[in-house]
This record gives sequence, structure tokens and C-alpha cells, in this order.
Amino acid sequence: MRKPFIAGNWKMNMTAATGAALIKELAPLVANANCDVALCVPAILIPAMTEAAKGTNIKIGAENIHWAASGAYTGEISADMLKEYGVEYAIIGHSERRQYFGETDEMVNKRTLTALANGITPIVCVGETLEEREGGVTEKVLDKQLEIGLKDVEDVAKIVIAYEPVWAIGTGKTATDEQAQETIAYIRKKIGEIFCPKCAEKVVIQYGGSMNAKNCKGLMAQPDIDGGLIGGASLKLDFATIVNFDK
Ligand code: 13P
Repeated sequence: MRKPFIAGNWKMNMTAATGAALIKELAPLVANANCDVALCVPAILIPAMTEAAKGTNIKIGAENIHWAASGAYTGEISADMLKEYGVEYAIIGHSERRQYFGETDEMVNKRTLTALANGITPIVCVGETLEEREGGVTEKVLDKQLEIGLKDVEDVAKIVIAYEPVWAIGTGKTATDEQAQETIAYIRKKIGEIFCPKCAEKVVIQYGGSMNAKNCKGLMAQPDIDGGLIGGASLKLDFATIVNFDK
């Protein structure tokens, strides 16, 4: 009952020219996908990528969204700015934002509520560091990220969660199918406790962290894994192979 959702996260890669060229090549390859498809791109590329993806099934998303409607927030992007280009998704609380830009769970919460209030689907990222996993506190870390990050959300089914173990991002070290399934099942259980078990069944939960054309099938075969948030592999045609994981 949950539609699979494969999204790319270009991070600080690509230009308007290389991005548009990639979308042109990807479009026919993903046209018959059985899942929802999105590429989350740097804010400055949103107008050109929206244009490049016009008439295709590739939706363009943002990599962040600010909580204020407007104001003195140098360097930030508001919901209205995104909506003007028909942006439907925004990544929120990526571990790189948490790690390098001081993003807190409270900020994640404010951004999430703002996205929802503006009809933009938040892709809320959660995940533990290697130290936390080895210290046996993964569940505790996820509890806090979910409890604070999703506070006051009215309809949790409108949210996408991306479970991204920090130790698997850009490292080539993927969580095993079983590790990813086990942790994502835990996340679903926790969402069930915060909201309701039935609501948790409706939430699309992606895996992210060195997901690629080779390991996508095994990960997507897991019962609680509904999709992927793809970094490196979304910068090339491998992204189409991942989108077509079921073929
Ligand atoms: P990689 O796929 O490059 O490991 O990145 C994952 C990620 O952070 C997606 O948001």
C-alpha cells in the first residue's frame, strides 16, 4: 500500500548545464518507473532543473527549506521561493547539515512543520554515527531525532523518512539488507508509538547511504524499506537502474 519512492540528493554537485544534460538522459530511462521519482538539487539549480524535467515523471526537490516565511536569514530559501517553481519535496535534517551547519532536531522540526504547512513533502533524515552504533545507542539517537523532529506533526503519513546511517554515507559502506531492515522497522515502530501504529504503516521510509545499482534490489526487497535517498549514484545513469529496481 506504500508506493516506493526513489529520490536523488545531488548535494553540492552538478551545474545547470551538467544537471540538465543528465536529466535529459535519465528521463527516457525512468519513464516507466513503478515508483515515485525525484531529484533534490541545489537551490540555484531548481529553475533550470524544473525546466529540464518538464513533461517527465521526475519531480524536482530542494535540499533544505527555511522555517520563516521571509526575513533576515542570509543564504536561506523560503517555502514561497520553492513553491514558485512547483517544488514538491524538501530534504530536511540531512546528516551533513547536522554535522557541518549545526542543524538541531528543533530546527528539523521547524523546517518540517513549515514544509507541511506549504504542501511540500518533507524528507526527514535520521540516522546514527558509527560511534553511536558501536556504543549501542542507535535506538536512543533515533528516538530523540523522531520525537523532537516530528513534534506537532498532524498527519505523519504526509512525511517521508530517510534512514541514513552516517557511517554509510559516501563511504561505500552500505548497511546490510538486514541491518537496514531492522533499523527501519524500529523507526516504523517508534513512529507508531509517537502517532499510531496504523499511521506508521502509511509512512514511506527510505534507506540512504552508499545505495547503488548493485545493492538496491536487496535493500528494496526488505518489507519495511520503501525507497532510497541516493547521493553519489544519483549523479550518473546508475540512478535509472535504481529507479527500475523491480525490473
Ligand atoms: P551516498 O549515496 O553518496 O552515500 O549519499 C547518501 C546520502 O547522503 C543521500 O542523502
